[in-house]
Amino acid sequence: MSQWIDACATDDIDEEDLIAWEHDGKSYAIYNTERGFFASGLMCTHEEQSLEDGLVIDCVIECPLHGGRFDICTGKALSAPVHEDLKTYPVKVEGGRVFVNTG
Ligand code: FES
Repeated sequence: MSQWIDACATDDIDEEDLIAWEHDGKSYAIYNTERGFFASGLMCTHEEQSLEDGLVIDCVIECPLHGGRFDICTGKALSAPVHEDLKTYPVKVEGGRVFVNTG
């Protein structure tokens, strides 16, 4: 069942940055990009590395461990050593709050 969860305030996330968010035993990354807010799984698909300290460049997240890159909007793996896409989740903004659809 699809479920929208109130995750954080829009100003909890700096521009071109992300935060880690936990819900129901799962970890998510929530991004504030020039194209809006997005959400994905928090862990890199290469090794068990959190993307929390990764670098947001436009709509790309760069993993802090080996520099693998993902498209934040689609989750697509863009550069080696990552090959497996990130799972992404729908996001909506209402009343200054960011809601994530955790599925
Ligand atoms: Fe992310 Fe290696 S753990 S690129």
